[in-house]
Amino acid sequence: MSKVTVIGAGMVGATCANVLAARNVADEVVLIDIKQGLSEGKMLDMYQAAATTDSKCKLVGCTNDYKKTAGSDVIVVTSGIPRKPGMTREELIGTNAGIVKSVVSQALAHSPRAIFVIVSNPMDTMAYLTLKSTGLPKSRVIGMGGALDSSRFRCYLAKASGANIHDVDGMVIGGHGDTTMIPLTSKATIKGVPASQFLSKKKLAQVAADTMVGGATLTGLLGTSAWYAPGAAAASVVESILGDQKRIIPCSCYLEGEYGQSDIMIGVPAVIGRKGIEKIVSIDLTKEEAEKFEASAAAVRKVNQILYDTKAI
Ligand code: LAC
Repeated sequence: MSKVTVIGAGMVGATCANVLAARNVADEVVLIDIKQGLSEGKMLDMYQAAATTDSKCKLVGCTNDYKKTAGSDVIVVTSGIPRKPGMTREELIGTNAGIVKSVVSQALAHSPRAIFVIVSNPMDTMAYLTLKSTGLPKSRVIGMGGALDSSRFRCYLAKASGANIHDVDGMVIGGHGDTTMIPLTSKATIKGVPASQFLSKKKLAQVAADTMVGGATLTGLLGTSAWYAPGAAAASVVESILGDQKRIIPCSCYLEGEYGQSDIMIGVPAVIGRKGIEKIVSIDLTKEEAEKFEASAAAVRKVNQILYDTKAI
């Protein structure tokens, strides 16, 4: 029996639950929210689709009743307010820190062995807050930003080259912020061949720039934060955990010396399996990438500092 709880029935949480249900990732998927009836409604909607989607999961929606989340193997945290056009993810910290801390502690009380996948923004800092406020081992707190940013990177690589998105591979490391993420263009490939053989330097730089504002582009178009790619990216992390797939996914991981950083959660490639973050994968960065990573870590640290300044941890 495998069970996943998604906290927050907004667009990202509901999309994540829907992908988990449609792909039969767990035996049971619970969606929980503070808004009366919202989770129940969305999960009933998904169950009404189950005959068509071939979902075999038990689907549970509940309003703030953490007893129903008990015994979850994985808990996905999407709670908090999304950003509006023109806002950065970092500006959400004041509101979201309190919400995330509270839902994580309630969820952990009912699922003491769960692995946490953090989606709420500012994501690296919310993952750090989760780790520090619970004292959980570092393997059990995963920030999903790199999975999302890498999926956006592949999208823009495919668009620019005309290649099939499934033939395109690439990773984004660093913080999950418009200016802190680092699309690794030097390592991107199309069917195993360096992307630089298909795209000029200028075009690759444009792909990186488009990736970095991939989320902001959507807040501009939609008037609120995106949900399909974020929800699907979070579900892909859950799938790698529950299926013990050991996929290499760039995720926000707690570092203790890796990549020259300590006491920070930031995006690096990691092996994700049944134990959570099973291994941080070390790759060689170019000098420019290493410099950007250092600057990214400094920016994430600055946001983390607000947690200490406001006594959130
Ligand atoms: C985004 C939000 C979910 O990047 O962080 O769309």
